[in-house]
Amino acid sequence: MDIATALDNTESKHAEPGTDFVPGPVLLIGPPGVGKGTQAKALMAEFNVPQISTGDLLRDHRARRTELGMAADELMSKGQLVPDHLVNEMVADRLALPDCARGYILDGFPRTLAQASWLDQYLIDTNAAYPVVVISLVVDRDDLLKRITGRRLCPQGHIYNIYSQPPKLEGICDVDGERLQQRKDDTVEVFEARMKVFEAETAPVIPHYESQSRFAQVDGFQDVGQVTDEIRARLKALRESSRPGGH
Ligand code: AP5
Ligand code: MG
Repeated sequence: MDIATALDNTESKHAEPGTDFVPGPVLLIGPPGVGKGTQAKALMAEFNVPQISTGDLLRDHRARRTELGMAADELMSKGQLVPDHLVNEMVADRLALPDCARGYILDGFPRTLAQASWLDQYLIDTNAAYPVVVISLVVDRDDLLKRITGRRLCPQGHIYNIYSQPPKLEGICDVDGERLQQRKDDTVEVFEARMKVFEAETAPVIPHYESQSRFAQVDGFQDVGQVTDEIRARLKALRESSRPGGH
């Protein structure tokens, strides 16, 4: 999916009529397969703000064979992180676009303490109207592996799972009829590597935000809709306590 299509997918066609809730910046943190992308898409549709998945942006660069995409390719296929400065620059470019004005759902960023510090400073430097609200999703490791190996993706970004969310017609997207694909890093071996990286690099980001008052942990093992309901409730409560001027 190219950037234009990604942007088009975030347009107001999904907006819930009459919603006036301004989500501001929302971070979804959690291990591979926990449901960040699935939940980010639901929140994007409901609140009419973009999903910004650093994994999706990097895969788009890779597909377009940009310099960044070429630098990221080998690291991604091994489950290693792309260097902070490259990812931060890519995120800065994306956050500067006008569709981020009411907020955005950051999916998979920040993933290191250095990225979190960079984002803290970026929000100060850009006089962000709202502080971030952070939702940490949690699922047992065995279930994560099943989610990763069972995941199937539509080229337009719709997410399925052969165990928990199968398409009506095997291998075909319900929405646009495109053939479903598997991500090349969705293997047992690369999952193990991604989990090691998560524990070493990303888990320390959680206490960075936990110590602030705008953090909630959500059980990602529930049905997709129940997880969305809980995130929505936690997000609204946390945002209520961090209105501009009220924090
Ligand atoms: P990225 O694409 O972000 O991968 P990830 O973090 O490993 O997460 P996933 O996309 O695999 O899982 P998800 O949590 O989105 O789950 P999903 O909703 O799809 O990153 C890929 C690579 O890019 C990294 O390894 C790194 O190399 C690089 N990268 C990215 N960001 C970076 C950064 N900031 N810095 C440096 N490098 C970076 O769901 C998974 C499956 O479960 C689906 O099949 C879904 O249908 C199913 N499912 C979801 N919710 C439920 C539910 N409630 N019940 C049952 N099934 C469910
Ligand atoms: Mg994802």
